[in-house]
Amino acid sequence: MIYSRITGTGGYLPDKVLTNQDLEKIVDTTDQWIRERTGISKRHIAVEGQNTVDLAECAARRALASAGRDAQDIDLIIVATTTPDRVFPSTACLLQKRLDRHGCAAFDIQAVCTGFVYALSVADKFIRTGTAKCALVIGAETLSRVLDWTDRSTCVLFGDGAGAVVLEAGEEPGILSTHLHADGAYEHLLSVSGGVGQGYDSLKEGNGYVTMKGNEVFKMAVNTLGRIVDETLEANNMEQSDIDWLIPHQANIRIIQATAKKLKMSMDHVVVTVDEHGNTSGASVPLALDVAVRDGRIKRGETLLMEAFGGGFTWGSILLKF
Ligand code: COA
Repeated sequence: MIYSRITGTGGYLPDKVLTNQDLEKIVDTTDQWIRERTGISKRHIAVEGQNTVDLAECAARRALASAGRDAQDIDLIIVATTTPDRVFPSTACLLQKRLDRHGCAAFDIQAVCTGFVYALSVADKFIRTGTAKCALVIGAETLSRVLDWTDRSTCVLFGDGAGAVVLEAGEEPGILSTHLHADGAYEHLLSVSGGVGQGYDSLKEGNGYVTMKGNEVFKMAVNTLGRIVDETLEANNMEQSDIDWLIPHQANIRIIQATAKKLKMSMDHVVVTVDEHGNTSGASVPLALDVAVRDGRIKRGETLLMEAFGGGFTWGSILLKF
């Protein structure tokens, strides 16, 4: 039986930091409102000329170094992103060129905030079927580029960043189970309504920016993530107490706390980065993983539950032995 296992992690955040105090000067908001309603105190923003592939490359190189691997060892590259540099080539192909790796499969996955969970799940299937042996899986976003910086209900929430893992074949798990879902019926609650397929004019007059009915998304996220926690535990015949670490998508501290409560888990065992990163969409889960691996909280052999919810709607979870 072939399993897949994470052998290295990496993360990257742009140097430029935007604090809540900075946002007070841009829109009608307060540090207190943002912290109380979301848990966010700052976020990192890509500067002009710094694009998703730049962030992805930094995170990827760090993940390769931590796995003790060279780019030539990689036989699959998947980038989860909603903010690709170009219409095409994919960000994964742009990254492949940067890494001077020629010939292996490389493609993007677009599942918004659930993107990394989707990408890791797909890479797991490639490895389990013997199609790949050593995959580079990345979540990378420059969400700041699709925000309306005059809309206080969205621009305070997001940030830029990238997280990456190296996933390798082995005889021991590794990834225990993956659970992916989507329901396109809710696209009106969270979307960017324009797109190049409708012609470039569709991106004008605010249609190129994120719009969200925050309160309704919030309720859906809490309920849906509660259900996926049950689904994941049941599929593995596990109890809440079997999970060592929850690595949630970092959208809002109140959503994270609700999922932790569902797991009867102390917040000491939940990796939280939303305070410092904001919501980095597809990058948030691998960035949180990398932070907690590097600071020594997450150790080899521990059981981790990753979960995410986002535009689409999409949602998913992954249970794994680290
Ligand atoms: N600063 C100050 N006030 C703000 C504000 C801001 N940045 N953004 C919104 N408000 C105001 C609203 O205008 C509203 O005012 P009103 O009552 O006078 O109409 C009030 O705050 C409450 O707005 P509401 O949207 O009901 O707040 P909320 O408690 O639901 O919090 C979110 C808003 C966006 C933080 C919250 O709904 C959320 O986190 N939603 C989910 C986000 C998410 O997960 N998105 C991505 C999925 S990956």
